[in-house]
Amino acid sequence: MTPTISDKNLFKIPLSEPFISGNEWKYIKECLDAGWVSSVGSYVTRFEEMVAHYVDTKYAVATVNGTSALHVSLIACGVQPNDEVIVPTLTFIAPVNVVRYCTAHPILMDCNLDTLCIDVQKIINFISNHCEQRKNGYTYNKKTKRRIKAIIPVHIFGHPVDMQPLLALCAEYNIDIIEDATESLGSEYNGKKTGSFGKMGCFSFNGNKIITTGGGGMVVTDNINMAKRVRHLSTQAKRDHFEYDHDEIGYNYRLTNIQAAVGVAQMERIHEFINIKRSNASMYSDLLSEVKDVRFLWEGAHSRSNFWLYAIKVPKAHKKLLIDYLLSKNIQVRPIWKLIHTLPMYRDCQRYAIDNAIEAYDSCINLPCSVNLKKEEIEVVVENIKSYFAEGKAYANKHSNR
Ligand SMILES: Cc1ncc(COP(=O)(O)O)c(C=O)c1O
Repeated sequence: MTPTISDKNLFKIPLSEPFISGNEWKYIKECLDAGWVSSVGSYVTRFEEMVAHYVDTKYAVATVNGTSALHVSLIACGVQPNDEVIVPTLTFIAPVNVVRYCTAHPILMDCNLDTLCIDVQKIINFISNHCEQRKNGYTYNKKTKRRIKAIIPVHIFGHPVDMQPLLALCAEYNIDIIEDATESLGSEYNGKKTGSFGKMGCFSFNGNKIITTGGGGMVVTDNINMAKRVRHLSTQAKRDHFEYDHDEIGYNYRLTNIQAAVGVAQMERIHEFINIKRSNASMYSDLLSEVKDVRFLWEGAHSRSNFWLYAIKVPKAHKKLLIDYLLSKNIQVRPIWKLIHTLPMYRDCQRYAIDNAIEAYDSCINLPCSVNLKKEEIEVVVENIKSYFAEGKAYANKHSNR
């Protein structure tokens, strides 16, 4: 079976490991000593304040993971059953699943080949040619007659989506933006942090992200009503803590104090982590520029990426072979996500002009990117990519028919 991201000890050079080397132990011990282990405690508030301050939003609400952050954000912004939400086909599956959790319908959109993020120009074409704005102010899909309530731009691998034209489009057509910034904590577009552009922005602190709480998430927003609603929904919609009075169907989506304690320790080092990620990305990019068949994916215009996950593009015929070659050398690499429109539960969804995403899926590979990746390890990865291409046809002939 193909190894997974969790096969930590299997690889000499793993794909993406957490870097726990600050105050994590100390802060967890404080929680344990004080007995504040669950979803109430000072670390939850501290973590929320730190993230809000860092991304420059007025409010932040911690959640149990990034998926739950996206789910409650969609409910809070008023996505109703039978609404439609535009999402990329090239993404981790969570932002698409949450649309279905709301019994709304995803419309799957293509990606841009430079950053792999959702193709904003195609969204503009779709909305202007295939949708209409009605007197009630909302925009409807001409084909399905359903309301387009929201768009979830995902900042893929940390690279910001081209937000400016998207913001203009959504303002004109009254469509909400819920940013999936789960991979892009600290990335900037026009000098502003991702997550702070949309009505709400969502982060993940899963073990493989730039900072981790083991598992965790956060919703950020400047809108006090949205913040209150997200907090309410994620705490079982409990109106009165003593009487157990609930006023709607809620969720148990709050982060625990222990996890938040880890988050505070990790946030203390976010600048350092991003500098390392960016410097390692530059090193990969420089070294790989010598290899004719390889392109290291870079941030887009007006952007400063956190470079959460590194990706290269290689000729289609080499993708699988190069992955197998590097795995055989104990270097953990992986193909990018299977495109959502090819998965059985989403095959029947409406999709728009998807072709770049197919090319990206056929040619992109993720490379090791942990914060604690050593310079010598980057050299080992690049040397192995070079030897694969040096062996070239001989290797391909020997392995392609197996
Ligand atoms: C793009 C994207 N969206 C959402 C999520 C979901 O976050 P979580 O795993 O914390 O639920 C992830 C990652 O894990 C992701 O990569």
